[in-house]
Amino acid sequence: MTMQSAAPRAKRILMVGAPGAGKGTQADLIAKQFGITHVASGDLLRRHIADGTTIGKTVETYVNKGELVPDAIIMDMLRKPVLKANETGGYVLDGFPRTVEQAEAAYRTAGSLGVGVQIAIHLDVPEDELIRRMLARARGADDTEDVIRHRIKVYEEKTRPLLDYYAQRELLIQVNGARPVTEVTWSIVVQLQRAFKRPATQAQRDRAVA
Ligand code: AP5
Ligand code: MG
Repeated sequence: MTMQSAAPRAKRILMVGAPGAGKGTQADLIAKQFGITHVASGDLLRRHIADGTTIGKTVETYVNKGELVPDAIIMDMLRKPVLKANETGGYVLDGFPRTVEQAEAAYRTAGSLGVGVQIAIHLDVPEDELIRRMLARARGADDTEDVIRHRIKVYEEKTRPLLDYYAQRELLIQVNGARPVTEVTWSIVVQLQRAFKRPATQAQRDRAVA
C-alpha cells in the first residue's frame, strides 16, 4: 500500500483566523463532531515551553513577543501528529499554516503523502472583539495589550494572504466568528457537511493541497 492511499476518507480541515478568533475553541468542537484529531501548533509550542524541551527553549522568545517561530521548527514539530491524525480519521489543524510559504512547504510534503488539506475555514471577527476576548482570557505573556496588537499586525501582514491562496483553490469556507460559540459551530458544521458531500471540482483535484 502506498502512502497516497493510506486514508482516502480522512477529513482534513484547517482553521484560519486572527489571534482570538476562536480557532482553538471551534477546532475542539469540530474534531469531536467529526471524530477527528485537533492539532494546534500554538498548543504544542506552549507544551514544549512548559516542559522546558530544546524546542521550548528555542521558541519561547518568539511566542512571548508574538513573532512567528521559524518554519523548520514548526514543520518538524507537526509532521508526526499530522500523519498520525490522518491515519485515524483526519485532522483539524489550527494555527498552521500561518504564511503562504508554510502552506507551499506543506503542499510539497503533505500533498505528496496524500494528507493535504481539503477545506480551510476562515473565522472572521472584528479587531475590537479579538482584543476584548484575549484581554479577558490572559493566557500568558503573549496576551498583554501590546503583544496582542503585534500578533494582530503579524496576522494581517503574513497570514491574511492565505485566504486568497485557499480561495483560489476553491477550498475556503467563510464564517462569521463574532457570534455565540454554538452558533459559530453550527454554521461551520452545516457548511462542512455540505462540502464533504460535494464531489471535488476539477480545480481541487488538480491542486489539492495543503
Ligand atoms: P496560537 O496559539 O496559534 O495563537 P493565536 O493564533 O494568536 O490565537 P489564539 O490561540 O490566541 O486564539 P484562537 O483563535 O485559538 O481563539 P480561542 O479559541 O483561544 O499561536 C501562538 C504563537 O505561537 C504565535 O504568536 C507564534 O509565536 C507561534 N506559532 C503558532 N503557530 C505558528 C506557526 N504555524 N508558525 C510560526 N509560529 C507559530 O479563543 C480566544 C478567547 O475567546 C477564549 O477565551 C475563548 O473562550 C473566547 N471565545 C472563543 N470563541 C468565542 C465566541 N464565539 N464568543 C465569545 N468568546 C469566544
Ligand atoms: Mg488557539
